[in-house]
Amino acid sequence: MRRILSGIQPSGRLTIGNYLGAIKQFVALQHEAECFFMIADYHALTVPQEPEALRQQTLQVAAMYYAAGIDPQKATVFVQSHVPAHTELGWVMQCLAHFGELGRMTQFKDKSAGKESVSAGLFTYPTLQAADILLYQATHVPVGEDQKQHLELTRDLAERFNKRFGETFVLPEPLIQKVGGRIMSLDDPTKKMSKSNPNPNSYISLLDEPDVIRKKIKRAVTDSETEVRYDPEKKAAISNLMTIYALCSGLSLEAIEERYRGKGYGVFKADLAEVVVETLTPIQERYRELVESAALREHLAEGAERAAQVANRTLEAVREKIGLLPRG
Ligand code: TYM
Repeated sequence: MRRILSGIQPSGRLTIGNYLGAIKQFVALQHEAECFFMIADYHALTVPQEPEALRQQTLQVAAMYYAAGIDPQKATVFVQSHVPAHTELGWVMQCLAHFGELGRMTQFKDKSAGKESVSAGLFTYPTLQAADILLYQATHVPVGEDQKQHLELTRDLAERFNKRFGETFVLPEPLIQKVGGRIMSLDDPTKKMSKSNPNPNSYISLLDEPDVIRKKIKRAVTDSETEVRYDPEKKAAISNLMTIYALCSGLSLEAIEERYRGKGYGVFKADLAEVVVETLTPIQERYRELVESAALREHLAEGAERAAQVANRTLEAVREKIGLLPRG
């Protein structure tokens, strides 16, 4: 059976990019694989966080997983810092990774560019991510396109470990959607939609009110033509909006082209706004019920227990293979 692990950082409000690139895949996968979905709070600490906000955002991501359709009976949802094996194997991975290969990570280069000081954690970030994945012997990791390089590093580290210490880790495959793996910014189709963008008009938050969604889609940049046609190279902005439409509605890109032939961008954008509102409204309703509920904390406690059982088994094997002295 396939084993899935993935995670989301609790660093601010989630966007429709997180939903379409990652969470929507998670929901589908829980029916066909053994799934572990994590809230990566240790990863969020690589940049400064306000303590109370971090605690709230951790619960908010958990509530969003369930609101989006993850079933606590089917999948294991847990908080990364509740399972100490992550940082323990993370250290082992840091000692296995090379300084040079971490320096080549484009996410590190982007996040550190122009900054006077960056944390050492931002640099070693992908080694903790490798530990997250390898602890669960995940066969597949559903992520957006931006995580591809971190997945390649994870495979390299797993292979290096297996060669040096004997077969231990499964080599995980990324699951990246062809359409939806990279949802672009609404104000600039050359940039990835991101929750850390200071301009809120560049993204749709999963918690945006219907009128805010309508306004943001209306203001989204397009090209100077009028034809609703999918061509990510020549018509990046409209192709991005079509991708959002297709994934929210279940219609194919061809069907969308057909539906809006000769109608122009105005009609298309107005309909897109309604399709997005229809997708997000039920999620938001469930989210509001869940985020304050006692059940949420209970699910997370159960999740941490189930996750720790699997993770500790792998960690024990690693400790033995690398020569750490058993406690007793
Ligand atoms: P994070 O929190 O930045 O994003 C969570 C997931 O959402 C995807 N995503 C997108 N997909 C499509 N279009 C976008 N504009 C978009 N923006 C974000 C991301 O690719 C990701 O799948 N390092 C990870 C968290 C993590 C992790 C892991 C993931 C920690 N440990 C182990 C997988 C396995 C991150 O920062 O994701």
